[in-house]
Amino acid sequence: MRNAQITGIGHYLPERVITNFDLEKIMDTSNEWIVGRTGIRTRRWVQHGDTLSGLAYNAANKALAMAGKTAEDIQLILFASMASDHAFPGGGCFLQDKLQIPGVPAMDIRNACSGFLYGLSVADQFIKTGKYDTVLLVGAEIQSTSLDLTTRGRDVSVIFGDGAGAAVITATDNSDKGILTTHLHADGRYANKLWADAPSVNDHPPLTKELLDTDRIFPKMEGRFVFKHAVEKFPEVINEALQTTGLGIGDLDLIIPHQANLRITEAITHQLKIAGEKVFSNIERYGNTTAASIPIAISEAVDQGLIKKDSLVCLASFGSGFTWASAIIRW
Ligand code: ACO
Repeated sequence: MRNAQITGIGHYLPERVITNFDLEKIMDTSNEWIVGRTGIRTRRWVQHGDTLSGLAYNAANKALAMAGKTAEDIQLILFASMASDHAFPGGGCFLQDKLQIPGVPAMDIRNACSGFLYGLSVADQFIKTGKYDTVLLVGAEIQSTSLDLTTRGRDVSVIFGDGAGAAVITATDNSDKGILTTHLHADGRYANKLWADAPSVNDHPPLTKELLDTDRIFPKMEGRFVFKHAVEKFPEVINEALQTTGLGIGDLDLIIPHQANLRITEAITHQLKIAGEKVFSNIERYGNTTAASIPIAISEAVDQGLIKKDSLVCLASFGSGFTWASAIIRW
C-alpha cells in the first residue's frame, strides 16, 4: 500500500533572542515566575526586515535539501499559521512566490497549535490517494508583533515566540513506513477561551481608533481552563492513535507534543506513565511557537539523533479552537 513519509525536515528561527530578563524591563514580571509557570527561559522574536513567508522559506529550503528535492518537485504547499504576511491573501501564496513555483496549489490551514498536524493529515490523504507525490507542509508564526507587551497582557505575552518548521512529505510503497495514522478534533464551544476577539468583521466597522486603545485586539487566554482541557485531550488523542495502530505506549521511541507549556508536557508525561526522556521538549529556548512548534521539534530531534531510521514517533497537539490532534509516524 502507498504511504506518505516525511523525507525532509528543517527549521528556521529569527536571530533576535528575548530573555525573561528582557521582559522584566518592559512589564511587571520575573524570570522566576515565567520559568516556574511555563518552563520558558528565552524565545525568538522577529526584527525589522523579517517576514512570515521569509521564515517559512528558510525552513522549507532546509527540508527540501534533506529530502534531496528542489522547489520544482513540490506539487502542493500546505501553510499552517495563525497569520499571513498581509491581511489577505493567505501566507501559502507569499511562500509560493518566494519559492518561484507559480501554478502550484497553496492551501492555508488556520488551526493554531494543531495546524501542522491538520496539514500532515491533509498531505497524507493527498499522497495516499495518488493525487500528489510530493507535498511541502510548513508551520510558521510571527506572534511577537501582535502581543500586548504591557503588564496587562503578561499572562499571554511571556509564552509566545516566533519561528518556522517545514516538512517535505513524499510517497513510499513501504506501508510500514511514514504516516501510520492521524486523528483530528475540534470543539468551537471554547473558541473564546484562547483567542483574539478583534478586529472582527462582525463589527461595523471592524476597525476604529477607539478599538486600538482597548485590549480586545490582543490574544487572550483563560489559562487554567486551557490547562485543564490540554492535560485531558493530549493523553486522549495519543491513546486514540495508539489504539488505531495496535501499538502500546512502550513501543514509542519518542513523543513530540506541541510545545505549549512545560507544565502541560510534564502532566502528559505523568499521565501516560512514560519516561521523561521519551517526551521531547525545547520550550525552554523557543517558548510556544504555535503551528511551528511541532516541525521545529521534529527537526531538532532529528539533528540530536533522537529520531533515527525506523523510529516510532507520536506527534500530538492541543490549542486554540479548541483543536487537538495526533499522528504516529515511523521515520
Ligand atoms: N508574570 C508575573 N505574574 C503573572 C504573570 C507574569 N507573566 N502572568 C500572570 N501573573 C500573575 C497573575 O496576575 C496572578 O496574580 P494575582 O494572584 O495577583 O491575581 C498570578 O500571577 C496567578 O495568575 P494565574 O492566571 O492564576 O496563574 P496560573 O497559576 O493559572 O498560571 C498560566 C498561569 C501559566 C498561564 C497557567 O494558567 C497555565 O499554565 N495555563 C496553561 C495554558 C498555557 O500555558 N497555554 C499555552 C498556550 S495555549 C496552547 O498552546 C495550548
